Amino acid sequence: RFMKLIFLEEVDSTNEYLKRVEFCHGLCVVAEKQTGGKGRRGKKWISEKGKGLYVSFMFSPISYQIASLSSLAFGVAVLNVLKTLDKRFYLKWPNDIYINGKKISGILPELLSDRLIIGIGINLNYTRDELSSLEVPATSLFAEKIPFDKHSILDKLILEVENYYELLKKKAFNVKEFEKNCPLIGKEVSVIEEHKQFNGIALGIDTNGCLVVEVEGKIRRLFSGNVSIRL
Ligand code: BTN
Repeated sequence: RFMKLIFLEEVDSTNEYLKRVEFCHGLCVVAEKQTGGKGRRGKKWISEKGKGLYVSFMFSPISYQIASLSSLAFGVAVLNVLKTLDKRFYLKWPNDIYINGKKISGILPELLSDRLIIGIGINLNYTRDELSSLEVPATSLFAEKIPFDKHSILDKLILEVENYYELLKKKAFNVKEFEKNCPLIGKEVSVIEEHKQFNGIALGIDTNGCLVVEVEGKIRRLFSGNVSIRL
C-alpha cells in the first residue's frame, strides 16, 4: 500500500489543501469539515462537520491516459465501496454515484502540471431536510437507511483507489466496467454543455472516456469538463 494519510478537523477544501502542500505521490487527506467544499462546474459541495466523507488523493507522475480516464476509474472505485453496503448504487457519467434517482457521491478531479488531485465526497449522515435545498436531488446513507461504518468506508476506499490507480497505470482499466454500471447508456438524455442544451441517445463510452451521444443522426463525443446529463 502506498497511501499516506493526513486527518484534519477543518479545512477550506481537501483538494485545495493538496494544491498547497509539497508534492507527494499517494498522499491522502481526510477532513471532518470543509468550509469551502467544491463541486464540479463551480458549484459548492455541502461539507458539514461529521456528516460526510470528504477526502482527496494526490498522484504523480500523470500520463494522459491516467488523467483522461481517472474520473471514470475512480467513480468505479467509489461505486465498489458503496456496493459493499447496498447493491442498488449506480454510476452517472462522468463520475456521480446515485441510488433511487438521487445523488449520494461526487468526484472532483483536478489536473495540475505536476499532480492529479482526486476529491471524493460521500454523503453519510445528512437528513433529507438538510439536502432538500440542493439543485440536484441528493441523499445520504442515513437518509436511505443504509447502515455503515465511516472508518471501514475510508479503509475500503483507499484500497479501491490504489487498485484503480494501478490499473490506470498499466493501461488496464476498461471503460466497460463503468458502462455496465451506468444506466444512462442506451437511453435518451438531455445534455447541457456551456449553456447550450440538446437531446440525444447515449450510445456508450469510448476508450478516451467520452460519452458518445447520437444527436439528430450525428455522433458527438462529450468530454466530462462542463457537461451535465439528465435522463
Ligand atoms: C461533484 O459531484 O460536484 C464533485 C464533488 C466533490 C466533493 C469532494 S469533497 C472532498 C473534495 N474537496 C472538495 O472541495 N471537493 C471534493
